Amino acid sequence: MKIIELDTVDSTNNYAKSFFCGKEECLISANIQTAGRGNANNSWHSEYKKNILVSFVLFPEIEIKKFFQISILVSLAVVDYLKSKNIFAMIKWPNDIYVGDKKIAGLLIENTLGDTFVTKSIIGIGLNVNQSVFPASLPNPISIKKIIDKESNLSDEVFSLTEFIFKKFKEKSSYDEDKKLYLEKLYRFQCFSHFIVDGDNIFGKIIDVDDFGFLILESEKGEIRKFAHKEIKFI
Ligand code: BTN
Repeated sequence: MKIIELDTVDSTNNYAKSFFCGKEECLISANIQTAGRGNANNSWHSEYKKNILVSFVLFPEIEIKKFFQISILVSLAVVDYLKSKNIFAMIKWPNDIYVGDKKIAGLLIENTLGDTFVTKSIIGIGLNVNQSVFPASLPNPISIKKIIDKESNLSDEVFSLTEFIFKKFKEKSSYDEDKKLYLEKLYRFQCFSHFIVDGDNIFGKIIDVDDFGFLILESEKGEIRKFAHKEIKFI
């Protein structure tokens, strides 16, 4: 694997996209991003040298019709990594990792598609490690330091997270098996709670996530609806 450590970059995902690493897997990390990106045009905030800011370039051999498995594997790897630090995290659909009701990490996965397979996957992970003060504009951030009350060595944490990511892709099971584990770790799975859809408050429970990553919700009246990211908001 090629490892590229940067001080400042606009976004490690942008760097990964423009960098040619042939067929070799790559890890790009940075101390700070000037234009860190989240999903749906959101930005990603992180203080200088405080948190994990990485992008992996992987070639995962996953069929396009099952491409959500990439998100499943990465989310589970991040949950396993946190568990190794005695932090019990959940996956908040579609790309967040939560501890309790607070966000500790976000994933930005950008795939290149061939005819039937994903040919390349850029997996961006922002994970809060040593930052203890966050801008008030962020709704609910948390970091490892805020949980364990101790600074971590950032390079060690990047190394450890990388091991968990590679292990998960190497040991990848069938889609159905991985999806089963994913649902076990899914935030608010099978729990009735409130969501906002088109400005309306909906009371329902998450009953599944389909192969394309759509969220399947059952309302209290038994009506089943499917949502893409940004069509539904958790409250
Ligand atoms: C989200 O929560 O919406 C996803 C956030 C992803 C942030 C990471 S930080 C490293 C990588 N580079 C980026 O520009 N974004 C991802």
